[in-house]
Amino acid sequence: MANRGGFTNKLGFILAAAGSAVGLGNIWKFPFEVGDGGGAAFVVMYLAFCFLLCLPVMVTEIAIGRKTQRNPVGAFKALGYKNWAFIGFLGILCGVLILSFYNVIAGWAFGYFIELLMGNFEIGNNFSEFTSNILKIGLYSILFMGATAFIVSKGISGGIERAAKMLMPALIIMISCLVIYSFTLPHAIEGLKFYLIPDLSKIDGNAVSGALRQAFFSLSLGMGALITYGSYVGKNDNIVSSAVYITLTDVGIAFIAGLMMFPLVAFNNMGDMTNLQSGPGLIFVTLPSVFGNIGPVLGVIIGAFFFLLLSFAALTSTVSLLEVPVAYIVDEFNVRRARAVILVATIIFIIGLPSLLGNGYSDFFSNAFTIPFFSDQPSSSDFLSFMAGTADTLLLFGGFFIVLFAGYIWKKHNLDEEISFGYANYKNSFARILINLGVTVVGPILLFLLFIVVVLNNFFGIDLIQKIF
Ligand code: PHE
Repeated sequence: MANRGGFTNKLGFILAAAGSAVGLGNIWKFPFEVGDGGGAAFVVMYLAFCFLLCLPVMVTEIAIGRKTQRNPVGAFKALGYKNWAFIGFLGILCGVLILSFYNVIAGWAFGYFIELLMGNFEIGNNFSEFTSNILKIGLYSILFMGATAFIVSKGISGGIERAAKMLMPALIIMISCLVIYSFTLPHAIEGLKFYLIPDLSKIDGNAVSGALRQAFFSLSLGMGALITYGSYVGKNDNIVSSAVYITLTDVGIAFIAGLMMFPLVAFNNMGDMTNLQSGPGLIFVTLPSVFGNIGPVLGVIIGAFFFLLLSFAALTSTVSLLEVPVAYIVDEFNVRRARAVILVATIIFIIGLPSLLGNGYSDFFSNAFTIPFFSDQPSSSDFLSFMAGTADTLLLFGGFFIVLFAGYIWKKHNLDEEISFGYANYKNSFARILINLGVTVVGPILLFLLFIVVVLNNFFGIDLIQKIF
């Protein structure tokens, strides 16, 4: 087997994995999920899920990767469980699907950076015109996929780690500046109140399942991204503390993104926080006009800065999404990395074409699916949203099988042994109790239930949680 390369040190791994985690999910999705789910009450639930359930899943993925030093498919084979390699295939499929639409949104973000740099504040009002301009967004998404492919082709320490070491600190500095600025705007306080004062009446089944899905997606779990990154981690590193740092960074940046976003929105709505735009609109429709109101020069600077930040966050995530199938091809078929990258990136770009076309350019793909499939009152959905919903659900499915495998097939003592490398005291630690419970009880039960709830809801239009409560 050829030299696969690896992260130079623990910090390199933490930054790369945190880069995977921090993405559109944090800056674009988290704030409006919080808005929908009852503000601070949602945040508390989200934190509980991140630390009680997601952290054990994360450690497990990293441990499987480090133990086997393989891609997600090869990892299960190397452990001697060929029949469980389907989990790895499922993960690769997930990565391919997510990257296919994620790259389209990342392309929009990058396009907005260019537009705002040229002072085009009207872009928010012309969002649908922008997304139907196929030449423009096609070019932006080719550029974005190209940048992703370039980084991945340079390998682990020279590509992925290096990019994360530049982009992550830049991102943290940029977002901190934007938060400070947004605090100075009129009505900031109304926005912060909305964000930080819990509204318990909004906590319902949907908010609970939303919090868990968001936590999974945001931490890049369930598809073997962390099995893959874990396969490049050294034996002396404490993977539990790495996982804690990765989770803290992800949660921290999502939280800070909310601190930045709500004052901006409150400024725009002059303090009225009812009827918020949600979905893509929150960023791509509302924010440009906020920047326009800030003034011509400062608005250009702040606005371009914001969308550059969003592009950076997305780039360290697309890199991890591409690395999963690339590692599979490099490991299992002995293909040179650069070749594998070109092949996979091209295929994924093609799979993403319906998502690219389905936001106005092609009528068919803009209304391609009726969701829920089997309900009496389906509503039509564009291809991209359909892909996003499907991928989200698959992650839960993947996560369920990963914990089931670790807890009952590979067995706890093997997991414990792998985690002990770099963490001599692990056997007597609280972390061990948490992780063991996570893979044997909490994870399998919660993820299975949630998977059922989501499938019934998305595909059959049956709201199980509402029926029970
Ligand atoms: N965590 C990324 C985000 O929040 C998305 C992602 C999911 C990346 C799964 C890799 C794997 O944007």
